[in-house]
Amino acid sequence: MAEHYGIQTAAGHLTVAPESKEPYAADVLAALHEDAALVVAKYPQKRSALLPLLHLVQSVDGYVTGRGIDFCAEVLELSTAEVSGVATFYTQYKRHPNGEYTVGICTNTLCAIMGGDQIWDEVSEHLGIGHDETTPDGKVTLERVECNAACDFAPVVMANWEFFDNQTPESTKTLVDDLRAGKDVKPSRGPNKVCTFKQVSRVLAGFHDGLADEGVGAGPASLEGLKIANDRGWTAPDGKAGESAKAEQQPAATSDKTAAGRHTSTDSAANAPDEQAGDKPATLFDGDDAKTDGKADS
Ligand code: FES
Repeated sequence: MAEHYGIQTAAGHLTVAPESKEPYAADVLAALHEDAALVVAKYPQKRSALLPLLHLVQSVDGYVTGRGIDFCAEVLELSTAEVSGVATFYTQYKRHPNGEYTVGICTNTLCAIMGGDQIWDEVSEHLGIGHDETTPDGKVTLERVECNAACDFAPVVMANWEFFDNQTPESTKTLVDDLRAGKDVKPSRGPNKVCTFKQVSRVLAGFHDGLADEGVGAGPASLEGLKIANDRGWTAPDGKAGESAKAEQQPAATSDKTAAGRHTSTDSAANAPDEQAGDKPATLFDGDDAKTDGKADS
């Protein structure tokens, strides 16, 4: 059983399980196409839907399977190499079976000195697994994380991207034990319970679960600066002086002046979906000091 999770050679290359390429059952494939159509419809260019579609694949398969890569490529009219290139770039996409819960322990500078390194050592030993490895029961995948973006609550641990603030080795061991035992676990902030990796992946694909407003948002440490500012009557500059100075320095940006190969968020005559960067020299600015793309004055 354990060998199905985190199969990895010493060189770090993953061996993708053969079942990863097995075709989807007809009903699963039909549902995937239905959901994918809703996602793709949100974007002016099909290929922009790749990130949510990869999450959609994970919501069904639990990781980005070979058949999931094929599905995304077919729906978005991309090559499988293009889809794989994206799937292997971002750490939220898993290329081998992932646990039901991804537990990310921050060992970046601030968390490390506040106890994150100690938490990592003890939890890794407690579970008997290392980075990007999964417990034999398939419940917990452990990750070293480079900043959970919650440094004011260091040391921070995340379970399926929900925050567990001001952790200790003991509290984190209790967390992983509870997750493995199938108990409901409540994060420090956010929803009242941690959802599974597949459930969270569906939310990341753009299908809301109705929990976005549940629980606490910003915690006291994040609001401390605001409290001090309110107590002292401080306000942010209105920014108008800066805006008028910028307006004088910069030419007006209009959609019809988008340089070739530089895509705006919408299609336009200057931004055809299939246009490739470098198809023709791109004029960045009108006027005597015009430069061509990549050929700035030396
Ligand atoms: S350093 Fe740990 S959350 Fe930022």
